[in-house]
Amino acid sequence: MDIVVMRAGAVLVADTAHLAGYWPALLTVTLAAAVAVREVLRRRAAARARRTPVAPPPPDRLTEMSRILATEVAQRRRSEVMLVSARAQLGEAQSQMINRLRSASALRDNETASHTDRVGQMARHLALLAGCDAEFADQLALAAPLHDVGKIGIPDAILLKPGPLTPAEWDVMKTHTTIGAGILMGSGLPLLDLAAEVALCHHERWNGQGYPRALKGPAIPLSGRIVALVDVFDALMSARPYKEPWPLSRALAHITGEAGAHFDPNLVRLFMDQIQDFVAIRERDRDDEAMLGADQALDWEEMASAQVIPLPMR
Ligand SMILES: [Fe+2]
Ligand SMILES: [Fe+2]
Repeated sequence: MDIVVMRAGAVLVADTAHLAGYWPALLTVTLAAAVAVREVLRRRAAARARRTPVAPPPPDRLTEMSRILATEVAQRRRSEVMLVSARAQLGEAQSQMINRLRSASALRDNETASHTDRVGQMARHLALLAGCDAEFADQLALAAPLHDVGKIGIPDAILLKPGPLTPAEWDVMKTHTTIGAGILMGSGLPLLDLAAEVALCHHERWNGQGYPRALKGPAIPLSGRIVALVDVFDALMSARPYKEPWPLSRALAHITGEAGAHFDPNLVRLFMDQIQDFVAIRERDRDDEAMLGADQALDWEEMASAQVIPLPMR
């Protein structure tokens, strides 16, 4: 619109000047109009430029940016691979530690390696039946065999005593739970922390009459409740220097009779619903039962736990 008006003005001035014969004035007016038009055009171009989005970077800038991006992506991938590898190494280191502790524990314990293996496998299976995720169940399978690692710290005179323990000796024997937890806890490593929890809690009882803390019901960590049940089941079903293996019916009668007393009743129900799986785990791995010699020291702690003998009252 500005241009149209100015052009019309310029023509009018030119006509007037022509008629009047004032050519110098006409030239001046025309030049002024041209300057004005150019200014208007410049302003419009500036306004358009302000409305126009930022122009994309030139092709060489794009190439540089994509190169930087690709480098960052590659670095992140390398970091992820290193993280996965570090996690695998940490898991392997924890497993190695657990296995070495098991070896050390086996030197001081009458329980056989097959028994502790089966306790681990049965604990994993019962954890899955209880709705735990596979990762926890796998960790429990590794941690559960260390339930009695604290016996490393029990004096020979008590651990290997060829006869029933006195109440005072029982008090010492019971400390294998806290000794085991003390050996295993404090690393900040999840697997060892779980093993510490199992060592501490596997003699707690659902009714609050267990040890070392007399925890009751769900206050007992699930890991401890699971291991308590499968440990006793496997001990009942196994030959020991002090007893023949119990028939399955007798062992199951004992387990069900202790639901809500020694054992978590919900775990007993899950266990009994799938008893064939636990029997199958026993059948797969029962090569140890003839290995215990009659001269081997009796495991009085296990006998009391399975109620083959009564726990002495204080
Ligand atoms: Fe124990
Ligand atoms: Fe055991």
